[in-house]
Amino acid sequence: MQVQMPQRPGPHGTAVIHAPDRAPAQQADDCAIVIFGAFGDLTKRLVMPALYNLARTRILPENFAIIGVDVVEGTAESWANHLHEMLLSFVGNANSEFNIDAIDEALWGSLSARMSYVQGDITKPEVYEALAAELETASAKYDTVGNAIFYLAVGDRFFGDVVDRLGGAGLADQQRDETGAAKRWRRVVIEKPFGHDLASAVALNARILRSLHEDQIFRIDHFLGKETVQAIMAFRFANGLFEPLWNRDRIDHVQITAAETVGVEARGAFYEVTGAMRDMVPNHVFSLLAMVAMEPPATFDAAGIRNRKAEVFAAMPPLPADAVVRGQYGAGAVSGVAAVPYRTEPHVDPRSNTETYVALRVEIDNWRWAGVPFYLRTGKHMASRMTEIAIRFKPAPLAPFATTAVDETRPNWLVIRIQPKEGISLQFDIKRPGPSFQLGTVQMNFAYADWFLKEPNIGYETLIHDVMVGDATLFNRADMVEAAWRVVQPALDAWTTDKSAPQIYPSGSAGPTDANALLAADGGRAWREV
Ligand code: BG6
Repeated sequence: MQVQMPQRPGPHGTAVIHAPDRAPAQQADDCAIVIFGAFGDLTKRLVMPALYNLARTRILPENFAIIGVDVVEGTAESWANHLHEMLLSFVGNANSEFNIDAIDEALWGSLSARMSYVQGDITKPEVYEALAAELETASAKYDTVGNAIFYLAVGDRFFGDVVDRLGGAGLADQQRDETGAAKRWRRVVIEKPFGHDLASAVALNARILRSLHEDQIFRIDHFLGKETVQAIMAFRFANGLFEPLWNRDRIDHVQITAAETVGVEARGAFYEVTGAMRDMVPNHVFSLLAMVAMEPPATFDAAGIRNRKAEVFAAMPPLPADAVVRGQYGAGAVSGVAAVPYRTEPHVDPRSNTETYVALRVEIDNWRWAGVPFYLRTGKHMASRMTEIAIRFKPAPLAPFATTAVDETRPNWLVIRIQPKEGISLQFDIKRPGPSFQLGTVQMNFAYADWFLKEPNIGYETLIHDVMVGDATLFNRADMVEAAWRVVQPALDAWTTDKSAPQIYPSGSAGPTDANALLAADGGRAWREV
């Protein structure tokens, strides 16, 4: 396949070195995708736009069908119209990740022509009989050769039941060739939250593994679909420069921040029983941490990479409650707009102690990281929206010149910006121009937007394509999910018993002040600005 070159110069007019915009994609297998929760929020905001994008970039298989399943009264036509309206709302919508100029109606037409709809209650066996018939029809009509993805875009309380019923109806059965590889494959995509705690995650794994083999299960963590998250591996392992510095000898500590300006919005009922820790930490934030902390894999395939990530979680001691600070947003203003306290949000208990912010200090007890703290924080209604990984290097051991005090030097930071303004920056000290010898701190910045043409992308495209080609690298394996819950479980248990309240922080701030003490106690460290 031909490598495309960007159509624009590099930053500040420099010539572009060979930077292909988009890697060629592996051709996906012919298949049908069955979306449970067809009329749901996730389907219209993320799954369908991602399918549209895959069609736009010609990555969908030639023989393809989309089957929606939901309790809502509807037909293939009404479902397609509903999704079309949602796509239209993205046009020119600067607030959306998926900001498109126009919908390619011919393309949409070719997709919607392949859509069918099964109406019914997903907890009842009849739906699965109807679905089996629909899959047969799709196979005959669109040549999907029996391959099917079951995408569970439904509430987590349905995960176990739907998988049981898929298994019971024989819909999860695969045909294998003489080498044992799946010939007619069946794959199940499971959204988060995968379990509510360690015990429920273990139980859910055991339950779905009665109907499915591990290689049929794709547990999604959408953070892993973000380009910059995947880029961390390339940054670390495709360059000889950084790896020798990537350890306890040179790194002082790591800060990972996932700050959001949004509040809980319409999700109060879900959030009340979930909270920031369960919603973000053992999944999204740990996924970022694993990318930074993992050892180089022996093989760059799903098994090699997932083994290395699992080792990171296994090396993390269970989190004591005093290594965690909880916060909850109060009144304030976010981006200049007045914001209400969490406790007055719809479907939220006015005395709720659910945390909307959490900051924690974790350790990784292995040879690379022993003694290097990883500080993690995530929160809603914060001062700005930014997700970043910041690596602080140890200071120079001596003052560079007699006239310069060591404490005049500023730390070296390597910052990997996940969103927005994706890129990487390196901060270092340099001499200021002028006759006296004074230091100044500068940054070398790489911005994705300067080098690559960014296409409308919501992050699910890569993940859905990976399911179609059977690549589980970016999905979580059963043992990884359980290991991550194991780390946070002691803190969750402590909150259940001690009933203490999280510290209230003003909406639009950097979070609760208690979180500062977490770092200050470790030799006066401080959080980076949000
Ligand atoms: C979801 C959480 O998984 O991730 C949300 O349930 C959160 O509460 C979201 O807002 C953050 O994802 P992103 O891609 O918007 O940073």
